[in-house]
Amino acid sequence: MVSPELNNHQRLVAYITFNLGEALNFDEKKLNEVSVAAVLHDIGGLSMQERINVLKFEAINPHQHARIGWLLLKDYREFEEIARIIKFHHVDWRDGEGLEFNGEVVMPESHLIHLADRIATLIARDEKIINQKDRIYKKIESASGQKFNPEYVKAFERLKEKEFFWYDLESISNGRRYYKRIKFKDQCLNIDELIGITKLFARVIDFRSNFTAVHSEGVSAVAKRLAQHFNCDELTCKKIQAAGYVHDIGKLTVPTEILEKPGALSKEEFDVIKEHTYHTYVLLFQVKGLEEINEYASMHHERLDGTGYPFKLEAKDLSLGARIMAVADIFTAVSENRPYRKGMQKEEVVEVLRKMSIENKIDKNIVETLISYYHEINKARIKAQKKARTRYDDFAKLLV
Ligand SMILES: [Fe+2]
Ligand SMILES: [Fe+2]
Ligand SMILES: [Fe+2]
Repeated sequence: MVSPELNNHQRLVAYITFNLGEALNFDEKKLNEVSVAAVLHDIGGLSMQERINVLKFEAINPHQHARIGWLLLKDYREFEEIARIIKFHHVDWRDGEGLEFNGEVVMPESHLIHLADRIATLIARDEKIINQKDRIYKKIESASGQKFNPEYVKAFERLKEKEFFWYDLESISNGRRYYKRIKFKDQCLNIDELIGITKLFARVIDFRSNFTAVHSEGVSAVAKRLAQHFNCDELTCKKIQAAGYVHDIGKLTVPTEILEKPGALSKEEFDVIKEHTYHTYVLLFQVKGLEEINEYASMHHERLDGTGYPFKLEAKDLSLGARIMAVADIFTAVSENRPYRKGMQKEEVVEVLRKMSIENKIDKNIVETLISYYHEINKARIKAQKKARTRYDDFAKLLV
């Protein structure tokens, strides 16, 4: 979503990794893990600029984004191994010495992604891919042992003879259907695991910029509290909490230059931002079981009087969860500190929210509940955002 070019790169690398893994007889679990890691391998390239640099063959500090990717993913238990694979995906083989890096163990899978990544970056856009196979292989082979595990290069040597492999890469590049789809294992998550992964998404969304660094954590904490005050059952409260984490996932389509613009936005820039809830909806729509969470998450800019966006819904269409999300989003946005301004104090916050509820934009009951429990809810927001800020600072250190 951040950059079509990078998206394509992740797909190509995943495809190449999967095929090499198969050629190397990786067992099912290992093959699945390394393929997931390959899809996510450049997730640490948080800003567009950084992402573009990642794609250059000899980047100056390739370990930075790999380390950031590891930091992002490692706290989600299901991704522990995957995070470790990603952490070292730019380490050279150096005749086997590359199984360690700065005293840490490097997994063999990291080296497989390293190879797949370099193969992908050698593909030129202006020529049929199959016609590039000898040039690509020669370049890879010349670095066998030094940059790449020779055993993996041998697997590539065999793979490169199969035409379908190159045709598939061409099709993937063109967004066409292709032959050898990666068979990812279906995963069934319970609600707590789901919260874990949406929390991970919150970081991917927020950590792109210092301006938004703790926003989703705040919205999630506030929305959950509000749901509890409305006596929602536990499962619904958790769904609302998860929705808070991902409500702005569509903002991944917004360039960081716009996210970080200090002054007022132009109409064109605002139009780009305005699209984000549409993208949140489309993205979450693809995942089975997220129907309600999607509804809560994607309707946070709809308004009771029908003046919101993008679906132009009205009061009768908006569920309690969606209404809570709208209030939690506004409350968090005006209350949180941003690099260019301090957050509003209670009096001002109350004024903003009451005005909007009088104008029939947001739900009056929810606004009054929030005001009645202001201190408790605001404390929950501050606590959640403080924790997120500490995490973000760990990242920021790596970004200099
Ligand atoms: Fe990378
Ligand atoms: Fe939003
Ligand atoms: Fe938001």
